[in-house]
Amino acid sequence: MRGAMSSAVIPSGEAALRIDTGKRLMLVSGRANPALAGRIADKLGVELTPVTTKTFANGEVYCRYEESVRGADVFIVQPMCGNPEQGLTANDALMELLVMVDAAVGGSAHRVIAVSPWYGYSRQDKKSAPREPISARLVAHMLEAAGIDRLLTMDLHAGQIQGFFQKPCDHMTAMFILTQYFADLGLDDLVVVAPDAGRVKLNKRFAAKMGADLAILNKERPAQQVAEINYVIGDVRGKTAVIVDDIIGTAGTLKAAADAVMDAGASRIYAAATHGLFSGDAFTNLDAAGFEQVVVTDTVPLRQGAPENIKVLSCADLLTSSIRQIFTDGSVSDVFGGENQLF
Ligand code: R5P
Repeated sequence: MRGAMSSAVIPSGEAALRIDTGKRLMLVSGRANPALAGRIADKLGVELTPVTTKTFANGEVYCRYEESVRGADVFIVQPMCGNPEQGLTANDALMELLVMVDAAVGGSAHRVIAVSPWYGYSRQDKKSAPREPISARLVAHMLEAAGIDRLLTMDLHAGQIQGFFQKPCDHMTAMFILTQYFADLGLDDLVVVAPDAGRVKLNKRFAAKMGADLAILNKERPAQQVAEINYVIGDVRGKTAVIVDDIIGTAGTLKAAADAVMDAGASRIYAAATHGLFSGDAFTNLDAAGFEQVVVTDTVPLRQGAPENIKVLSCADLLTSSIRQIFTDGSVSDVFGGENQLF
């Protein structure tokens, strides 16, 4: 089936007039993570709407929907990450999302929803030095200027990024996918470790869910993309440590965290994060860190050459349930029993 139809009952004696509009759900994918879009399409029971996307010789991106989107709720699956296999940089992915939104608005879609589980530029959410941009806000402005009706995203680096939007922002979390995975591993003597102050709240919830102890690391960034960890707050000696972060970029944070936790006497170490960007020297850093496993989700496609101890869990079920709820005007918080506004 291409797209999904909804039908509504027309009751009598209600204050609101309900009309069966037979509205359509269309799911489309940019080039950033077509595999994730395919998984969502399978679970929704729809085919992806055909769309031509390309990069011209001068680097500009282009798109065209191959069938009418008029009157449809168009869900555009496009995390703002690069995809080397598609020749796409993170900035290309963002621009491609913007042109796809523009084309859907221009094609008279009823609603346009950006499904971007990875929100690019999310770490530039404030000025850390004079004369810096607040790029996460700029991205929000660009999406709204292009014409999105709402954003469906996951584990924003800071929940406050939602405040950069005038339009609704549905903020999912992969925390329960990750805690379930670790619960199924049945590890004993567990301590959950926050790699920096920014992740303490997440790790506190993670530890509570796992019935584990909590430890906190003191991370400094002497320069951009350089992580130093000086000491461990809490007891990790003889324990299995799970270091939980939102993002793995260069894995400099995880490497420093692994060293600190092992120096403090942990018996073995695991890592978990929602977004596995694995940029720069990430794979080398992870190899050197000695993790039993590094667990991430598929918000971002796994780069080629990944070490075998990287485990990818899919967040397609979660996004599919959220898309269903958005399409039917149901409650997105219900997908989590109200526990999605965690951070
Ligand atoms: C920082 O505040 C984030 O939560 C992550 O710890 C950071 O972005 C990871 O980056 P990298 O892997 O490059 O150290």
